[in-house]
Amino acid sequence: MNEQVRGKFISFEGPDGAGKTSVLRAIQKRLVDQLGADRVMYTREPGGNHISEQIRRVLFSPENTDMDGRTEALLFAAARRQHIVSEIVPGLRAGKVILCDRYVDSSIAYQGAGRQLGEEAIWQMNQFAIDGLLPDLTIYLDVESAVGLRRIAEHRADQVNRLDEEKLAFHQTVRAAYLRLYRAHPDRIKLIDASQPLDQVIADVAQTIEQRFPDRFE
Ligand SMILES: Nc1ncnc2c1ncn2[C@@H]1O[C@H](COP(=O)(O)OP(=O)(O)O)[C@@H](O)[C@H]1O
Ligand SMILES: [Mg+2]
Repeated sequence: MNEQVRGKFISFEGPDGAGKTSVLRAIQKRLVDQLGADRVMYTREPGGNHISEQIRRVLFSPENTDMDGRTEALLFAAARRQHIVSEIVPGLRAGKVILCDRYVDSSIAYQGAGRQLGEEAIWQMNQFAIDGLLPDLTIYLDVESAVGLRRIAEHRADQVNRLDEEKLAFHQTVRAAYLRLYRAHPDRIKLIDASQPLDQVIADVAQTIEQRFPDRFE
């Protein structure tokens, strides 16, 4: 991507239950009101392109439960690559503000740390896939692991069994990796306290976007 790009690329990160989908929806609406629908693009990996969809089917097929962890990580990176080429780069060239639900940091946190493949190894492997394309801004919705889990399993909130404890440990590992990424990339990644009421989280995210892009994307 050598030519001048006019768009902006904003990724949203954080564990399940952090509020990514809820916040994205609200921010998308605000930006559409501000800029018009044709300037705003919502996407999430692996995206709607036919190649990434085929990779997605391989990743999630019940026939493939014996898939090796590194194979899985490579396939996620391959789907990411095609999503970049088919959707993100054309959107940026068209001057759009792209809101992306999860990007490369998710691979570092989930596969590198959570699945213990190594954060540095997953980072390096993904460099080939992203070829330098990092978001202009990454919104990291930070929430205590127990709170995130409770939000996605409200009805089982106070029943803690062994599986829930394993889940909690996994989520804590993922959160620790996100916090390391945040500390390592303070210019790109902004941390939002996602334990606040949803309206306040949305307001904080909107303010962070305005501060990062004071010219309002002109
Ligand atoms: N700040 C918040 N406070 C309370 N509940 C929230 C908050 N943010 C999201 N939720 C709720 O938590 C659940 C998961 O939210 P969602 O936006 O789907 O998170 P994610 O996309 O990060 O997994 C939903 O039921 C949502 O209404
Ligand atoms: Mg979601």
